[in-house]
Amino acid sequence: MILLMSSWKRTHFCGELRSEHVGQAVRLNGWVHRLRDLGGLIFIDMRDRSGLVQIVFDPAVDRELHARAGDLRVEYCIGIEGEVRRRRPGAENPKLPTGEIEVFAQRMIVFNPSRTPPFPLNEERLEVDENLRLKYRYLDLRRPAMYRRLELRHRVVKYIRDFLSARGFLEVETPILIKSTPEGARDYLVPSRLYPGKFYALPQSPQQLKQLLMVAGVERYFQIARCFRDEDPRADRQPEFTQLDLEMSFVEREDILNLIEELFTGAVEECTDKRVLKPFPRLTYEEAIARYGTDKPDLRFGMELIDLTDLLRETGFQAFRAVIESGGIVKAIVMPNCAGYSRKEWDELSEFVKRFGAKGLAPIALTDGGIRSPIAKFLSEVEVQGILARTGAQVGDLIGIVADEPKVVHDALGHLRQQMGERLQLIDPNLMAFAWILDFPLLEWNEKENRWDPTHHPFTAPREEDIPLLDSDPGRVRAQCYDLVCNGNELASGSIRIHRRDLQDKIFHLLGYTDEEIKERFGHLLEAFEFGAPPHGGIAPGIDRFVMLLTNDETIRNVIAFPKNTAMVDVMFGAPAPVSEEQLRELHIRIVLNEE
Ligand code: AMO
Ligand code: AMP
Repeated sequence: MILLMSSWKRTHFCGELRSEHVGQAVRLNGWVHRLRDLGGLIFIDMRDRSGLVQIVFDPAVDRELHARAGDLRVEYCIGIEGEVRRRRPGAENPKLPTGEIEVFAQRMIVFNPSRTPPFPLNEERLEVDENLRLKYRYLDLRRPAMYRRLELRHRVVKYIRDFLSARGFLEVETPILIKSTPEGARDYLVPSRLYPGKFYALPQSPQQLKQLLMVAGVERYFQIARCFRDEDPRADRQPEFTQLDLEMSFVEREDILNLIEELFTGAVEECTDKRVLKPFPRLTYEEAIARYGTDKPDLRFGMELIDLTDLLRETGFQAFRAVIESGGIVKAIVMPNCAGYSRKEWDELSEFVKRFGAKGLAPIALTDGGIRSPIAKFLSEVEVQGILARTGAQVGDLIGIVADEPKVVHDALGHLRQQMGERLQLIDPNLMAFAWILDFPLLEWNEKENRWDPTHHPFTAPREEDIPLLDSDPGRVRAQCYDLVCNGNELASGSIRIHRRDLQDKIFHLLGYTDEEIKERFGHLLEAFEFGAPPHGGIAPGIDRFVMLLTNDETIRNVIAFPKNTAMVDVMFGAPAPVSEEQLRELHIRIVLNEE
């Protein structure tokens, strides 16, 4: 059969037909989304990427066409020619943009039949194993909800490109085959055929390349950059992902924060109907930990951590007193309308905080009849009144208290706060609550390896006034870096960079690199700094994470066209996969399996 596509070219998209098209002859291309055979009339919902329209086959008009329509099945790829008609009164579908009209079929072509899809593509809520969806991702992406995600992602990236182009930024592509550039994960390595025993590394980010572009005088760079990190997968992580990578010369922290704030506010408001909390609140790292127990707080709701330590120094409750005497702290959160929780529910909250190392959660419920609490008998009246006043708890509320070393208290209450915010539905799903987290420490002590690690990456500049501390007390040096968080997720990290060789050298040494290693791994960058490198700084927001927050998805896999599954496998291609002996030989590689 010779298929003359030209005679079947669409005149309209399915989803754009409206009552103003009534009476027009149209040609449509798409797929059979749903079928209803009412004995007499046959109805199909026909789908293309724009949406759905109802097609009607009437045996009274064309018996043979009607019979062929009876043989259609879902996901057949078809062309339809017909006339747009107004639906019978009462038969309109207000849920469908095309719901006032239907198309009376006069001709039809089946471009290609379809096997029965392995899962339904025409249900709003799809309950099916994700691996099946990923194996047939090309079908999964046919679902309107998935197409909308691809389309949103496209619009977001286009907004970013336009916004930055209008401000003099240059989009520059940087290589994928390079040498290790560390961001704290393992590298993906690519063996070299021409140089036996040598490897390229895929970039964990274009960090050094963008800094070298600043040395090159580009001044304002961005890239929608693919990054590769061999780390354990999580819902918000993929082994390859996309950053908006950005760098500017002759700037201060403030310039980057303002630019990004304007960019993200615009992107949300332009591409979605979500609301942005403006201006973005700014918290120091210490403040974020103290008030929310985490450096990526969800600011869509309150329920802040409240410090009770000073009220309880002399308390008769030994569990708390011992903690305080050994340098620990006591903090609380107030859970609104939870005073009625049963003993069993208290125990569940206690079990929850124990997952983060706490010894328990001490509850104080404020009921109509007064205080209900297993620790009330250990507390003085002054202490109880102090706690009530400090927390501002009202009748009906439940106060939850944890005493421990600060890290445990913050971890436990931070997670409990998030959990309760979700459970009590204190979170507006339509809100994008961004915040800047500032003044991270430059270094953190690595107990296991007995050395300093960079909190961000080794190229981050210390605060000028803290530079002398590098020699005396490195742990107290604050970094000129900033994280952008949104709705409880880390969205971006950035910093003002080191641009002088002596300081960069010093930091590498502090991090425990030998002269040899520094020369071998970073010689090119240090050398570049000797040729008039300008002061510079930048940031890199994760595009996948941003889109995930816009769609309220639980995982970034939903906003990536062809992601790896939770076990890092591409189940569609079946990657990773063995390669031929011949390929291995060319690459000078022999596989030696560990005996396990
Ligand atoms: P960082 O390593 O913090 O900084 O990464 C920046 C942002 O990239 C996103 N991201 C990821 N998204 C999905 N899957 C992953 N595995 C993953 N890892 C990171 C996050 C994160 O906030 N070069 C520096 C940036 C800079 O200093 O300019 C960097 O890569 O949204
Ligand atoms: P106990 O007297 O040890 O049975 O503790 C009484 C209550 O205090 C129980 O609800 C415990 O869960 C709680 N509790 C004990 N130690 C701590 C602690 N360090 N932090 C918070 N609650 C605690």
